[in-house]
Amino acid sequence: MTRILGIETSCDETSAAVLSGQGDEAELESLVILSQDVHRIFGGVVPEIASRQHLTAIVPVVERALEDASVKLDSVDAVAVTYAPGLVGALLVGVSFAKALAFGRGIPCVGVHHMEGHLFATALEHHDAVPPFTALLVSGGHTLLVDVPEWGRYQVLGRTRDDAAGEAFDKVAKLLGLPYPGGPPVEKLARTGDSSRFRFARPMLRRNQQPGDNDYFDVSFSGLKTAVLHAVRDGSADDHAHIARGFHDALVETLVEKTARAVEQFGRQRVVLGGGVAGNRTLVEAMRQRMRRLDAEVFAPSSRLATDNAAMIARAGLFHYERGERAPLDLNAFASMPLPGLVSA
Ligand code: KG4
Ligand code: ZN
Repeated sequence: MTRILGIETSCDETSAAVLSGQGDEAELESLVILSQDVHRIFGGVVPEIASRQHLTAIVPVVERALEDASVKLDSVDAVAVTYAPGLVGALLVGVSFAKALAFGRGIPCVGVHHMEGHLFATALEHHDAVPPFTALLVSGGHTLLVDVPEWGRYQVLGRTRDDAAGEAFDKVAKLLGLPYPGGPPVEKLARTGDSSRFRFARPMLRRNQQPGDNDYFDVSFSGLKTAVLHAVRDGSADDHAHIARGFHDALVETLVEKTARAVEQFGRQRVVLGGGVAGNRTLVEAMRQRMRRLDAEVFAPSSRLATDNAAMIARAGLFHYERGERAPLDLNAFASMPLPGLVSA
């Protein structure tokens, strides 16, 4: 049994978690997430402010996570920390803190890729959300369709050509005068809209696409965002709910169909969703309905574990720790970095 302290500071949440276990039998002992609300007034994350807030929050957040788990630092076996991708200044706070803590206590530090963390998040709540599966990772900065034959082996099938799914939600929210982060308010407004009023083109979704076509799995949302911009300009405030619905329907249908293609091609029976947009109940429900026809089960995290959190970092960290991986003391932070363990077709 290993007890891991996870730390996540890649964007605008300062988070720490304590997790213990072995292999896929891991139990979350505590999770603290401090969301930096200050960015709301700017309508997006301001990197320098994020770094400074992590700096003031990191010590109390970690102390609180240990306290909630009723454990002392002495009983922690390793520290796992997000080192990429994300805002470099924000990442550096977590990385520096984790290295200092590990060095001071004489325990190992493990670097975790943030998107690999999202892949592991759902397994914390659903025992069967383990490989082999098809994964759809939809966050504010990334949209990835991945085949996962086993933990640590990832074949990226598709990605966004432009905006990430969460980014599209945030931009559309801005156009509709809704607050940041835009996902939850756009989802809510879309529920009240009429789906027959605005039918936007489905980006990258042509029925005659064939496996092997380079746009078979990829998605693109910037055209959709522009279509929303024009609809908002040409319409009145009364149209906002219908426009939100038109946007939501197009985005969800695109993500669901691309995921179905991956499930079919690889014959997977499980679909795992991850990232902030996986907290979208409409997307999850549409995914479930579509996958029923393919006999595949859909696993989605709760909103708390869908958005950025340190529990998923501790969980991915446990996997790498058990494989004997250790971060050197010169572990650095990186704004972008490919997923570890990539395999090609
Ligand atoms: O994974 P995450 O917390 O941070 C990144 O790694 O980027 O994802 C944040 C993104 C934001 O763009 C936010 O608008 C979106 O997830 N989001 C949602 C929902 N909840 C959060 N998008 C759609 N529907 C939601 N319910
Ligand atoms: Zn994330």
